[in-house]
Amino acid sequence: METMDAILSRRSIRQYTGEKVTEAELKTILAAAEASPSGMDEYENTVMTVIEKPALLEKIDQAAKAAAEKSGNADKNPLYQAPTFILVSGKKPDAESANLIFSNAAIVVENMALAATDLGVGCCHIWGVVEIIDHDPSLLNDLDLPEGFIPCCGLIVGKTNDQYTKREIPLDRIKCTRIK
Ligand SMILES: Cc1cc2nc3c(=O)[nH]c(=O)nc-3n(C[C@H](O)[C@H](O)[C@H](O)COP(=O)(O)O)c2cc1C
Repeated sequence: METMDAILSRRSIRQYTGEKVTEAELKTILAAAEASPSGMDEYENTVMTVIEKPALLEKIDQAAKAAAEKSGNADKNPLYQAPTFILVSGKKPDAESANLIFSNAAIVVENMALAATDLGVGCCHIWGVVEIIDHDPSLLNDLDLPEGFIPCCGLIVGKTNDQYTKREIPLDRIKCTRIK
């Protein structure tokens, strides 16, 4: 797939068969993550956690559902029963570079999303559960992140019966001004 085809075909997939992507596909997706640019070349400040353990995925799902119920939004299915959730975390920054870890993490996730699209496997950016994980000491303990790292964003991946097709994207949905 050409780069622009992958970009225009990517969309959020929220239906999964339950089957994991193959090891080779996961390797390609993670290789795309590794190819991401990173602010000040500080790759050591980003870590990925590939969560495939059904009990942990279920625990995250339940924690998110409980939080959603509290906010009156009970029918959410936060991880869409996807068999793999790749969480990207960053080293908690000092005040001057507060946004950098989130920019780094977002790029990692989008690179993986484009690779998943290219492979024809399902993927969806996930932020909803990240905030929940961040405030749940038990989940943070299960994730065993390096000291001082916080979850930033993530991507679910898995086999799907949905198809990617190139989309017409409106060219004005993100406002853009030019300064010449
Ligand atoms: C940073 C970020 C976080 C997102 N978090 C979620 C999420 O938690 N759950 C979800 O279903 N979709 C999530 N999405 C997907 C967006 O809803 C989706 O990208 C947007 O509606 C555009 O649709 P498309 O991805 O199909 O083009 C997220 C997207 C981004 C970029």
